[in-house]
Amino acid sequence: MNTADLQPSKLGTKEHWDEVYEQEVENFEELGDEGEIWFGEESVDKMVEWILENVPPSKRALILEVGSGNGTLLFGLLEAGYQASTLHGIDYSPGAVKLSKRIAETKGGSEISFSECDFLQDDPAFPESATPEGTTDVWDLLLDKGTYDAIALGEKDEEGRSPAAKYPARVSRLLKPGGLFLITSCNFTESELKTSFATEATGLRYQ
Ligand SMILES: C[S@@+](CC[C@H](N)C(=O)[O-])C[C@H]1O[C@@H](n2cnc3c(N)ncnc32)[C@H](O)[C@@H]1O
Repeated sequence: MNTADLQPSKLGTKEHWDEVYEQEVENFEELGDEGEIWFGEESVDKMVEWILENVPPSKRALILEVGSGNGTLLFGLLEAGYQASTLHGIDYSPGAVKLSKRIAETKGGSEISFSECDFLQDDPAFPESATPEGTTDVWDLLLDKGTYDAIALGEKDEEGRSPAAKYPARVSRLLKPGGLFLITSCNFTESELKTSFATEATGLRYQ
């Protein structure tokens, strides 16, 4: 499926995610419920396993999750031995940032940085350990679990283009030369993702 073929839905709106996380923050505060695990525990385990093999903790790579939600994937990496200060999550919903920070405190992950950022428009805050200062292509590994899917359900522009059309260029802007992008999607097949991301314009290669 092409991103232009998908019908927009509420999952592609910030209002929806703001409502979801407002409720999830309340649930966490009242019941300790950490919220939904998108695509289930198995997908977290599979991604963590791949990262352990390809970007082991000893590399001290700078890792950024796009649309980190409640932070489950980054907490999986923390548990697998990654240093908290190398882990970063961005989300455009302030409730998601609040929720993930609260959960982080209960898991010894307060040094994971969670911040508010619209991936399609703004560059994530420059991580302290990255050099040289001021550049955007500092990340060794970019992660996405369900966020490209959500973005692809946003309202199309006048030419019928989905907001997701902007996404691949944002990845190549932020990745270090030789950096990796790992994505789990429920709306797109492997070959569709390959067609959208591994293009001459992005310079990304499929491996
Ligand atoms: C399906 S949820 C997945 C959350 C998380 N990755 C997980 O696996 O639990 C999609 C997330 O993407 C975030 N999101 C959607 N569009 C975004 C954008 N343009 N910039 C940053 N975050 C975005 C939403 O707020 C939501 O947290």
